Amino acid sequence: MNVFVAGATGALGRQLVPQLVARGHEVVGMTSSAAKQDLVRGLGARPVVADALDPDAVAQAVASAAPEVIVHQLTALSGEMSARDMRHPERSYAVTMTNRLRTEATDHLLAAGRAVGARRFVAQSFAAFRFARAGGPVQTEAEPLDPDPPPSMRAAQAGIVYLERAVTTIEWGEGVVLRYGGFYGPGTAISLAPDAPFVAPIRKRRFPIVGDGGGIWSHIHIADAAAATVAAVEHGHTGIYNVVDDEPAPVREWLPVLADALHAKPPRRVPRWLGRLAAGEMATVMMTEVRGASNEKAKRELGWRPRYASWRLGFTQGLG
Ligand SMILES: NC(=O)c1ccc[n+]([C@@H]2O[C@H](COP(=O)([O-])OP(=O)(O)OC[C@H]3O[C@@H](n4cnc5c(N)ncnc54)[C@H](OP(=O)(O)O)[C@@H]3O)[C@@H](O)[C@H]2O)c1
Repeated sequence: MNVFVAGATGALGRQLVPQLVARGHEVVGMTSSAAKQDLVRGLGARPVVADALDPDAVAQAVASAAPEVIVHQLTALSGEMSARDMRHPERSYAVTMTNRLRTEATDHLLAAGRAVGARRFVAQSFAAFRFARAGGPVQTEAEPLDPDPPPSMRAAQAGIVYLERAVTTIEWGEGVVLRYGGFYGPGTAISLAPDAPFVAPIRKRRFPIVGDGGGIWSHIHIADAAAATVAAVEHGHTGIYNVVDDEPAPVREWLPVLADALHAKPPRRVPRWLGRLAAGEMATVMMTEVRGASNEKAKRELGWRPRYASWRLGFTQGLG
């Protein structure tokens, strides 16, 4: 198939494009930067340069590819968030720009897809640190997001809700949303690269377990996330799929294992009030209250299995 990947140069895009090419698909990869065209070529795709926030540029880029499937992997999340950003994520560049990419850019890509007669649209959403704070520890796609998120998380949730609704209600094709778990592995915030944003704080013991560490995270290795995306490109149906590993786990369980894999000392423990004071509400909620996600639907309907079924294996063998 002809596949158009918006976000071909990102952590996920760099895994996804070669996997699509290996499956025999023709891929056009979009970047906002002329300087990254060689990177896109190196992945096996034809590069096209366009700013995702410019509707005319997006329309032209998509028309030049005449794709059967469009994949939306645009975010601005890969940079390091400062302590101030963590306390006020709603004011951070990462969240405000990502929200524009999840709203405006989604609309531009959908309009372009409709105009060229694409038949499937696959978009990145988020399952890790699920915004739900009630109900069982591991939740399916059918369970509701937090109806009343903490103020600092409202903006991020609103962007996700907008994207999910816009994509799953298209009438001209299959609108597929992939709620990825927290990424780890090459090119992500948790990897063996010296500049991986989560790694230095863990090594310096500045990534403590807050409160009881009972917040449940669903992780996913970046190559497994890409493999699920290939399956969704080939035969995903309209709806939402959690793309997470088989072992959602509380922070108090997985963080010490990750620290050990990074040859760091075990994480410190701080009381909830101190965590809230130092890192803010969002970090505290993520450490203590969030729920995990089930991957049963993705396994059943996409025929996908994560190679790293558990972060236990992934953290020891898949961070490089
Ligand atoms: N999800 C979270 O809350 C969270 C938290 C902490 C860390 N992280 C980390 O964030 C990263 C997320 O990975 P990802 O693959 O989703 O994102 P990414 O690595 O940041 O890639 C984003 C993609 O979006 C493209 N893009 C952004 N703005 C654009 C624009 N205006 N026009 C065209 N393209 C644009 C970029 O392309 P160009 O730059 O080529 O234009 C790039 O290909 C991972 O490293 C993950 O570990 C995520």
